[in-house]
Amino acid sequence: MSEGRARAEACANIALAKYWGKSERGDNLTAVPSLSLTLNALRTRTEVTVESTLTDDVVSMNGQVVTGASKERVTELLGRIRSLTGDARYASVQSLNNFPTAAGLASSASGFAALAVAADSAYGAQLTRAQLSSQARKSSASAARSLFSGFALLEAEADEGEALHAEDFWDVAMVVAVISSSKKSIGSTGGMVHTRDTSPYYPAWVARSKEVYARLKEGVNARDFTEVAEAMEHSTRMMHATMMTAEPPVLYLRGATVDLMHEVAARRRAGEPVAYTMDAGPNVKVFTLGSHVDSVRAFLSDAPGVESVIVCRPGPGASTLLLEGSLADAQRSDKRPVHFPFQTAERP
Ligand code: PMV
Repeated sequence: MSEGRARAEACANIALAKYWGKSERGDNLTAVPSLSLTLNALRTRTEVTVESTLTDDVVSMNGQVVTGASKERVTELLGRIRSLTGDARYASVQSLNNFPTAAGLASSASGFAALAVAADSAYGAQLTRAQLSSQARKSSASAARSLFSGFALLEAEADEGEALHAEDFWDVAMVVAVISSSKKSIGSTGGMVHTRDTSPYYPAWVARSKEVYARLKEGVNARDFTEVAEAMEHSTRMMHATMMTAEPPVLYLRGATVDLMHEVAARRRAGEPVAYTMDAGPNVKVFTLGSHVDSVRAFLSDAPGVESVIVCRPGPGASTLLLEGSLADAQRSDKRPVHFPFQTAERP
């Protein structure tokens, strides 16, 4: 058998309607539906090389060899692709992020979407986009959405994500205020199980999330900023309130996060198209219209406690990269324009 080698790139996505909670059916299926925006400036690139001489998978992330549970999550996905193809050979995996890893910036979403595409191609599995989304979902549910450009969905208990609208559907942006780029204290999987087991608000969150998701989806379909803003903020507050009322609490928000929630709310009351959302970390992502990116970037850059600001526009779905040059310099195989050089995001 020939050595298989492939590269892929995927963008992170941020949920507007959040997912937090696993279905009782297992297999990493989600208990609630979610709707996300794929972000062009937060990217993972992954190269998978299948090698006959290897006696185990070798995984490196951002130049560091990975072991333990983080490695296992990668080898589990490779193992599923191996059983689909009947090719038992191990692989070496190299992955690069152009943004902080495991800091609530959805690095697992871009990471597992890129890994699914690269592994599929290296092992010659020839999975469809829906099957790739399913493979990514089994490793990290949010990764199911990064297979798709622009706005994407993952219905509750669905095996795979779905495209809702491509990246050119609506001229919007997600401006990320990085409050801390250090690794999150509690991972999302452990946090979700603990929240389900101990928060009295968890059943209410699961019940109400469907309504908020439906409102958000209608708002996106109609390109109605106010509807999206209100539903998006409600989703994030319900999710964080549920986490915070776990015992002991899963508390990701910091003082600077809450100050920005007030600031964004005041600005929207004054007529600015801005809305906030936060994930498994203190960073605030501000959703806005493309026409308002400069003013949003300016106020976030001056806000107390903000380390840096990353402007993200709607991004493309995961795809393979050409095998020319280094991993950091490779171009997309589908010849779609690369919005930014890999190492840089749009900054002031
Ligand atoms: O897919 P995971 O395990 O990385 O969990 C993602 C959870 C949130 O980012 C908080 C919400 C979401 O829907 O992306």
